[in-house]
Amino acid sequence: MKATAIAHANIAFVKYWGNRNDEAGKEGLNLPYNDSISMNLDNAITKTTVEFSPDYKEDVVIINGKVVEGRKKERVVNFLNFVRELASVEHKCKVASENNFPMGCGIASSASAGAALALACCKALGLPTEESFVSRMARRFSGSASRSVPPGFVRWKASENDEECFATSIASPHHWKLCDVVAMVSEEHKKVTSAQGHLLAKTSPFFKARLEEVKERVEKVHQAILDKDIATLGEEIEREAISMHVVMMTSSPPLFYWSPETIALIKALHEWRESGEVQAYFTIDAGPNVHLICEEREKDKLLELLQGLPFLKRTFINFPSEGAKLVKEHLF
Ligand code: DP6
Repeated sequence: MKATAIAHANIAFVKYWGNRNDEAGKEGLNLPYNDSISMNLDNAITKTTVEFSPDYKEDVVIINGKVVEGRKKERVVNFLNFVRELASVEHKCKVASENNFPMGCGIASSASAGAALALACCKALGLPTEESFVSRMARRFSGSASRSVPPGFVRWKASENDEECFATSIASPHHWKLCDVVAMVSEEHKKVTSAQGHLLAKTSPFFKARLEEVKERVEKVHQAILDKDIATLGEEIEREAISMHVVMMTSSPPLFYWSPETIALIKALHEWRESGEVQAYFTIDAGPNVHLICEEREKDKLLELLQGLPFLKRTFINFPSEGAKLVKEHLF
C-alpha cells in the first residue's frame, strides 16, 4: 500500500478567501464562497510518498528529510485519518514529502503538498484516482490544493455541496506561455494562517460586496485566459488582488499582509506600464511578496527593470504546468 505523486503549486488569478467551515456540518470541508481561477507553476513541485502498513506502530511525517511534529504533523495526520476512514483501513502510515522550491520563495507549499498527498493516498488506499475525486480530497487538506490537481489553467467551482466542489482545467499548460515572476520583498512569515483568515473574511463589511463583484470577474478572467488577452486578464487580476486585500484589511481583527516595499513595487510597475516599458500586472496572496504576471516575451525586460529596485531580495520564475500525477520512483 505504497504510492508516490508529484504536484505543482499554483497562483490564483481569482482568489479563494472565505469558507463555510464555521457552518454546522461543513467543518473542515473548505467549501469556498466564490469560484476561483489559477495557474499551476512549473518550478514549484512537491513529491510525496505514502505507505500504509501494519508494520508501522505510529504515523510518521518527514518533510524535506526531517521528521516533523506539532501543528505540521497534526495537519497531515488529520488528513490521513480522513482517508483511512473512507477506505476502511486502519494501518498507520509513513509520509515523506519533498519540495523542490525553498520555503520563503513567495509561494506557499500547501497547495502542491495537499494535491500530491491526496493523489498518493487515493492510489495507496485503493480509493478512486479520477481527477474530480482527488481534487475534492485535496481540498480537505488545503482549499487551494484542489486547484493543483487538474493541469494548466484551472477553475475551482464554489458549492455548498461537498460532492460538487472540485476544480477542473479550463486550458492546458501549452495553451498560453504566461509567466509568473515572483518578486520577493520580504522573508517575514505570516502571523495569521489562511485557515484563520478564511473565517475572518465574513467580519469585513466589504465581504458581501466582494462576493457580488467577483461573480462577473470570474467570467472575465476565464474568457481572458481562453482568448489569451493579457490586457483584460491583467486589469482584472490587479482589481481582484486589491479586492481580497481590502477584505483582509477590514476584517476583525484586521489582517495586513503588505509591507512598504509591496506598495513601492506596485507603484513602480504602474509607472513602467504607463511609460510603455513593460506589460506586466500584479497579484498578491496572503503575504507581502508580489507575483508579476506577463507574457513570455516581456519576461527579460521585466527582470531587467526589477534589478533596479534596491529592496528586491530575489525573483522566482514560473510558467504553466501539468497537474498532479503518480510517479514510480518512491522517496523511500
Ligand atoms: C490567499 O487555505 O488554500 O492564497 O494556507 O496555503 O492552506 P493555505 O491556503 P488556503 O488559502 C489560499 C488563500 C490565497 C488565495 C488563493 O490561493 O486562492
